Amino acid sequence: MTDAKLIDGKEIAAALRSRVGEGVAALVAKGHARPGLATVLVGADAASQVYVRSKGKTAAELGMGSFDHRLPPETTEAELLELIARLNVDPTVHGILVQLPLPRQIDTARVLLAIDPAKDVDGFHPMNVGRLASVSAGAPLDFPVPCTPLGCSMLLAATLGSMAGANAVVVGRSNLVGRPVAQLLLRADCTVTNGHSRTRDLPGLCRTADVLVVAIGKPEFVRGDWVKPGATVIDVGINRVPAADGKTRLVGDVAFDEARAVAGHITPVPGGVGPMTVACLMYNTLQAARRIDGLPFLAV
Ligand code: GUN
Repeated sequence: MTDAKLIDGKEIAAALRSRVGEGVAALVAKGHARPGLATVLVGADAASQVYVRSKGKTAAELGMGSFDHRLPPETTEAELLELIARLNVDPTVHGILVQLPLPRQIDTARVLLAIDPAKDVDGFHPMNVGRLASVSAGAPLDFPVPCTPLGCSMLLAATLGSMAGANAVVVGRSNLVGRPVAQLLLRADCTVTNGHSRTRDLPGLCRTADVLVVAIGKPEFVRGDWVKPGATVIDVGINRVPAADGKTRLVGDVAFDEARAVAGHITPVPGGVGPMTVACLMYNTLQAARRIDGLPFLAV
């Protein structure tokens, strides 16, 4: 069998960013408020700083307002809640993103609950979690949907078109990725199974998958012989591992070379799901600004 076709997340994300940029320009040209994204980072985690910088930079590139809030690691929950309360009523802010994880002294659930659901561009507020859990098959996603899962479903739609009737296996059951991905696949008429660390025969389950989404956070965990020939594989993992030259390299949760020899289509790491996450955050911010201004949902 020839190697699987690569799913080019960089290219699909660039096309989405460009459509979002056009949507922002059209909104502003009609006299509506310029969409604004506020990012909040508590503490100095290096990876989180990189992510937050990239989000702010991309927002500015697409013509959005970008408001960067950095708080010290000892910030109290009350102080963070006070900032969120201000952002909730700030008319220049349409999207609020609180970077996770938060320091220990802060209760993440309480913080997510405090964000105005209309500005919850991460889709982590229980109201939006509930909307996704109860969406009908094929109904519009006219509420914020978590960015990485939305990115996975856009990559699948771009690769496969209809997924109706496909067997989909999602490896991982986190609130950030595994569960929302499963709900999006169910909405797309897949037959969905969530596998996880306690699943009895995970390799056997994966071999039933026409669509295999892996978000388990373990480097190269899914091997080539777990993949059904011709399957579409979406690898959400980003793991830094030691490389032969004493440096480090990024690998996914799937053993790429092995899986590529069997799959029909596969995402690389990096350059697969990663670029979609930030592009979907921009998409969510544009949609939030439109909704807050009373405009209808726009498929971009
Ligand atoms: N940390 C890791 N992924 C995410 C994400 O999608 N959103 C936020 N806010 N924090 C994260």
